[in-house]
Amino acid sequence: MPFLGVLSMSWYNEVEYIRKQARLNNEFFANSLPMIASENVLSPLCKEMLITDFHGRYAEGTPGKRYYEGCEFFDRVEEKAMELAKKLFNCKYADVRPTSGTTANIGILKALIKPGETACVLDLANGAHISFGKWGGAGVRGINLVSYPFNDEEMNIDVDGAVKLIKEVKPKLCLNGRSVFLFPSPIKELSQAAHDVGAYLIYDAAHVLGLIGGKQFQDPLREGADVMTGSTHKTLPGPQGGMILSDHNEATEAEKSFLRKINFGIFPGVTSSYHLHHVAAKAIAYAEHLEFGEAYAKQTIANAQAFAQSLFERGFKVFGEKLGFTKSHQILLAIGPGKGKEASKKLVEAGIVTNMNTIPGDNDPLNPSGLRLGTPELTRIGMKEKEMSEVAEFYKRVLLDNEKPSKIKAEIKEYRKDYQELHYCFKEGFRGYDYHKLV
Ligand SMILES: Cc1ncc(COP(=O)(O)O)c(C=O)c1O
Repeated sequence: MPFLGVLSMSWYNEVEYIRKQARLNNEFFANSLPMIASENVLSPLCKEMLITDFHGRYAEGTPGKRYYEGCEFFDRVEEKAMELAKKLFNCKYADVRPTSGTTANIGILKALIKPGETACVLDLANGAHISFGKWGGAGVRGINLVSYPFNDEEMNIDVDGAVKLIKEVKPKLCLNGRSVFLFPSPIKELSQAAHDVGAYLIYDAAHVLGLIGGKQFQDPLREGADVMTGSTHKTLPGPQGGMILSDHNEATEAEKSFLRKINFGIFPGVTSSYHLHHVAAKAIAYAEHLEFGEAYAKQTIANAQAFAQSLFERGFKVFGEKLGFTKSHQILLAIGPGKGKEASKKLVEAGIVTNMNTIPGDNDPLNPSGLRLGTPELTRIGMKEKEMSEVAEFYKRVLLDNEKPSKIKAEIKEYRKDYQELHYCFKEGFRGYDYHKLV
């Protein structure tokens, strides 16, 4: 059948095109300095779960109460994932089904607030995430948003102003979602004010989930947060996904009803298939974080602090100076009015991957004035404080000395040769950026 032969040849070319892009992407990241604060690399055992048969299956409902047959083995995996998540975050309730942090957040909004009701949030310019913004999940749910005041110097919610606002506005929910998250939020004070007016406090830990699991950041559920949501692929270096945690239990009818609402918010609220292979990989990531998370979170933060200090010493304007720049995995730089994009483009030409970011005072998210940087991935490939000052020197040469990016790119490719293996996971020594072929 020559005709079909030609046809399949032609479509196979498209397959090869896609595979080639994936290989090039692996190579690009293997030879660069990946410093996007929300990104990470996956351990070999998490990766293995992504190509299991769980990928093709459905399991609507909860373990033991399924709409589909054939879930026996997956039920055990999901139960184990919930058990490990509760252990890691020292809490009574875990839902590992959300397919992303955004899905977890929208599920919570579906569960705990109605259209037209009010929630207090952070402004986008002060580091909030769109899932709690009017253009994202909160807008989809039709929620009326009121912003907390912000203290630029301390890069944090203005606690007195926020407490006053909560008492005046009497919102249904107080949301704490921060994509720029340098310092712990004042959760004790906010949750007290929220509870006084009958509101719940929701802590979106998307970015800092692994730091909390590693016991190196604040502990929101102990500080009064009713629910914590998060992404499972940032400082918690698991598969792309989301999760929900709470220390509420089933002790009273009111508590039972609260947890039932959350459960119903996730399914049928915002999931059907919830990517079972990712749930299996999440379970492995929780076990790995129980084993290595403390050391990993500690080094990630130490690296962020060393990197911020090194940049500052080289003449960069780094936020949070008076408080030691950062207590998380992130660093925020002021680059110049509207110059964030130009800086991130220059850096990527030199092999340094970052993102432009709004900083306090910015009004145009497409032309922001800052750069947000993170150390989770460099830490995972074995870099420590010494390397942070070497990396800061590359930044200086690109952005302050205006050296030719192509020259620096070649140097970074050479520099990265010593940092290809993953740490803080079982099977250390695995080359995380190699293109692993199945066929
Ligand atoms: C505070 C915050 N919440 C939610 C999200 C969304 O997470 P995901 O990409 O898992 O949907 C992000 C993404 O970076 C974030 O910064």
